[in-house]
Amino acid sequence: MLELRKFVAPEFIFGPEALQLTGRYLSNFGARKVLIVTDPGVISAGWVDTITEEITKEAVDFTTYSDVSPNPRSEEVMLGAEKYRQEDCDVIVAIGGGSPMDCAKGIGIVCTNNQHILDFEGIDNVSIPGPPLICIPTTAGTSADVSQFAIINNLEKRVKIAIISKTMVPDVALIDPLTTLTMNKHLTACTGMDALVHAIEAYVSTANSPILDLHALEAIRLISKNLPLVVGDLDNIELRGQLMLGSLQAGLAFSNASLGAVHAMAHSLGGLLDLPHGECNAILLGHVISYNFQEAQERFVKIGEALGIKNTNLTSVEMKRAIIEEINSLREVVGIHKNLGDHGTTVASIPELAQNALNDPCMVTNPRVPDRRDIEVIYEEAL
Ligand SMILES: [Fe+2]
Repeated sequence: MLELRKFVAPEFIFGPEALQLTGRYLSNFGARKVLIVTDPGVISAGWVDTITEEITKEAVDFTTYSDVSPNPRSEEVMLGAEKYRQEDCDVIVAIGGGSPMDCAKGIGIVCTNNQHILDFEGIDNVSIPGPPLICIPTTAGTSADVSQFAIINNLEKRVKIAIISKTMVPDVALIDPLTTLTMNKHLTACTGMDALVHAIEAYVSTANSPILDLHALEAIRLISKNLPLVVGDLDNIELRGQLMLGSLQAGLAFSNASLGAVHAMAHSLGGLLDLPHGECNAILLGHVISYNFQEAQERFVKIGEALGIKNTNLTSVEMKRAIIEEINSLREVVGIHKNLGDHGTTVASIPELAQNALNDPCMVTNPRVPDRRDIEVIYEEAL
């Protein structure tokens, strides 16, 4: 059935050496002083030096803010905003994985709206867009560089908040697969699985649409085919490029269709226990598919085909089993062996985790509507 659907995406440049266009875009924006938002890992990988060279070529001034944790915290956003104001910046460049990019999005809207970052929680609660923002992803996973989402950790309440708004879409994304060469095997695996979850959750989201379907299915194909190859051949730029293309397409899909229970539950784990996002998603995915399958069977069959399951004459029970086996074997091949219990999740924490997951905006578009007990059972299975 045709329904009204909106598609939002930034201008993006995809390909090797896209990063080197940073200076040109800064001069397009008329930048005077740039706040570079990044993290210590990206600095030690050398990417910030590469960027600053490009910025210096344009005779633009810059300052760097790198106090960003893996699950970026509201305090870090507020301190970054203070630095932006004190240093009289007028453009932001975010370089790194989802954490620096989400932090940068937060810094921008805090500065233009003069509000606390936690005030923007939820859907469409940002009145004024931030200053020009250039995002340069260095992982093939989060797609914060094309998405309407920013996820920020509220340490006081130990929950992650989602800020979802068209104003969170960067002005330009420079998507350079060369930057992903410095990721180790585990980070490549976790961010790749995150991207796969984006595509699957977007495809079965209740806000799916024909345009997004194309991106979501192609992303599932690209990621499931290339991720196992990349973890066995980390320096292969062709494979890295295919994986990043998959991540980009997954990002275009989920930014517009939103996500589902896997992300709602992973956000809850990140907030309460500070667990890593991609790995939580990888652990939860098979369990959530098992729960959701009955509400979106036809769509899951398409997902199965995109994952490479050739036999389309399977009964729905067999198809469900085959998809979960495929996901689990992918997880094993890329080396994600731990479960939630191995990361310190306990039975005692499950009721609170489940309640927080139910309150997460990503749960709204999950194909099956769960109650608290349903979510508790999924956490228990994933322990
Ligand atoms: Fe994600």
